[in-house]
Amino acid sequence: MSWSQLFRRKSIESLVAEMHAEKRLHRVLGPVSLTSLGVGAIIGAGIFAMTGRVAAQDAGPAVMLSFVVAGIACALAALCYSEFAAMVPVAGSAYTYTYATLGELAAWIIGWDLILEYSMSCATVAAAWTHYFNEFLIVTVDWQLPLQITADPFTDVKLATGEVIQTWVNLPAMLIIGLVTYILVIGIRESAVTNTILVIVKLAVVLLVIGLGIGYIHSDNYTTIPVENRNYSVAGDFVKKHPEIARTLPSGTMTPYTSGENLLDQFPEQFQSLNAAERATLKDLKSDDSKIGMIGVLGLKDKMESIDNHFRSPFMPYGLSGIMVGAALVFFAYIGFDSISTHSEEAINPQRDVPLGILVSLTLCTVLYILVSAVITGMEPYHQIDTKAAIASAFRKQAVLDQSRLLKFATALISTGALAGMTSVLLVTFLSQARVFLAMARDGLLPKSIFSVVHEKYRTPHRSTILTGVFIMLAAGFMPMDMLGEMVSIGTLMAFALVCASVLLLRIRRPEIARPFRCPAVWIVAPLGVLANILMMLFLPMGTWVRLFVWLALGMVFYFSYGARHSSLQASHNNPSA
Ligand code: ALA
Repeated sequence: MSWSQLFRRKSIESLVAEMHAEKRLHRVLGPVSLTSLGVGAIIGAGIFAMTGRVAAQDAGPAVMLSFVVAGIACALAALCYSEFAAMVPVAGSAYTYTYATLGELAAWIIGWDLILEYSMSCATVAAAWTHYFNEFLIVTVDWQLPLQITADPFTDVKLATGEVIQTWVNLPAMLIIGLVTYILVIGIRESAVTNTILVIVKLAVVLLVIGLGIGYIHSDNYTTIPVENRNYSVAGDFVKKHPEIARTLPSGTMTPYTSGENLLDQFPEQFQSLNAAERATLKDLKSDDSKIGMIGVLGLKDKMESIDNHFRSPFMPYGLSGIMVGAALVFFAYIGFDSISTHSEEAINPQRDVPLGILVSLTLCTVLYILVSAVITGMEPYHQIDTKAAIASAFRKQAVLDQSRLLKFATALISTGALAGMTSVLLVTFLSQARVFLAMARDGLLPKSIFSVVHEKYRTPHRSTILTGVFIMLAAGFMPMDMLGEMVSIGTLMAFALVCASVLLLRIRRPEIARPFRCPAVWIVAPLGVLANILMMLFLPMGTWVRLFVWLALGMVFYFSYGARHSSLQASHNNPSA
């Protein structure tokens, strides 16, 4: 294999020619269906589950600002996506765009990376689906599933009594993925109709949350909770239980990076009052390394901490880095607008409707997210927010507090809407995964016999859908949800940064190509898009970066052992008349 083969590119002309070839997917999607696909893919576990976790553990009420930061980064990427999607409206999205600009190896990396975005996000959403299903059961029949079957074996569930339950498998998550796989094998038309209904239900519920929740906002929750209430490291949690000691420590001492041993070394006098057993316990408590972002590894930890201490307030208890970590995580909530571009091939008028669908759905969701996060952090002190099913749980607690049947009914409605919402995310995101695999298989980078066979009757890539379904089911049942969510975010941020770079490259290399939608101020928008997405990646934990590299390395093994040898470009190079 020569060096140049790694950078061989597909021409835009060949992509457009492919688009007109026989046996393509049906073109059935109009502007409303496309926008509804966007909203269908966007609003889901991110807002219903992730927001609570980020508010409680990473950003506090400033999670609203995290949504603004992530929304801006997505808007920049969305403009670049739109230019590409209108120019090359074929299945494959970022993978296809990269093939035409940066070449085959980069395209493979993106395609492989998109598995994180699409398949892993389905698994994450399915895991959150379970928590809303349980909330629904609690509020309607006052019963819940045995906790052992509601989470992966790595995530222990802690009861209010302090008892820890060892979990085995997230069974409802596996079942919902099984159902979605079945629906998708049946076909796109049915899926689009189902999706539109689910989107309507979901939007109605989000509006209900905002309309009803506004009345329960206590503005004190934004302005008066002491910054000391924030979540520290495990060592920090120990210190919090000893307020007489906590009072004597300099402010800003406790960070996720603080270990028990450090504390004892640095402040021996303050900890004198502890007995021997307590000292031994504290000494064993490690810093929470899982929270150290790449930014810390790059040597900027101390700088960030002093900036954070400067900005810390009841509204932003975790400082600026909290907002950025939060942005990188709630970014998950925006994932999906790019699914529209993977459906370009099924759009009736892709040049006009795909950019429109992307921009409309993204704007709508940003506004809704900021309002919903204002409601959640206004209803409860941020450190008491449920990290798994924040919205339903906040309304359920309020219903108990007010003894209100109406609120209880609203909680049931909200849980139902959240379930519908997350199901629609699963449908669209899963569908996008199958489309990307289809594009990769057509190019010979994945086995055609599995990934590009379209069912004679249903015209769907059924084999690929079933195989992917099994893979996602296993991930949803057995992998930890938080870790999955972070992997999805880092993978998608990387894909977005590459799309922004590619759009600029193509403007330089092929300025003459017709671009039905041109990204405005591309020389500013695209570089800013690259920067914003990379900046958010830097705030994600080191462990997530390591996992990303392991995943990419695995991808390289696959590429060199299969894709590089079977690539269609390789075949046409060897046999130019073919
Ligand atoms: N944006 C999708 C969600 O929040 C992945 O569920």
